[in-house]
Amino acid sequence: MALERTFSILKPDATRRNLTGAVNAVIEAAGLRIVGQRRIRMTREQAETFYAVHKERPFFGELVEFMTSGPVVVQVLEGENAVAKYREVMGATNPAQAAEGTIRKQFAESVGENTVHGSDSADNAKIEIAQFFTDADIAA
Ligand code: PPS
Repeated sequence: MALERTFSILKPDATRRNLTGAVNAVIEAAGLRIVGQRRIRMTREQAETFYAVHKERPFFGELVEFMTSGPVVVQVLEGENAVAKYREVMGATNPAQAAEGTIRKQFAESVGENTVHGSDSADNAKIEIAQFFTDADIAA
């Protein structure tokens, strides 16, 4: 399969606990390459736009509040089958259900504060990457 890219966020619970290096080590050990990376403070508008698909869900306000509560690291990951591979490496949304060895099993605190985000499809990856990166920010 050809190289694919996915979009990743190391969430505020990861930056707060100084875990960005530990999470990146898991990502790299899985064979994914970090080809773009920036530490930012997400604005409320950015978070609301990014999670717009969830705006009718009961936790939307809490999710936006959390994602703007501290710095995040936005990333572009590249590798074979990167979208599916990263979802596998992240583990289930709820860390209580995440498989052994996954990022969420190792590091996540709750279903809301679950350490990482990863795109759920190649089409969404393109949209999400374009929200935070230009081509000049990515070096493969
Ligand atoms: S998934 O992976 O999209 O199927 O997961 P889903 O359950 O649909 O959740 C979508 C995102 O919402 C976050 N989430 C929550 N935030 C706060 N409180 C509660 N209860 C909650 N439940 C889910 C979840 O972490 C997902 O965030 P992302 O960044 O997309 O992984």
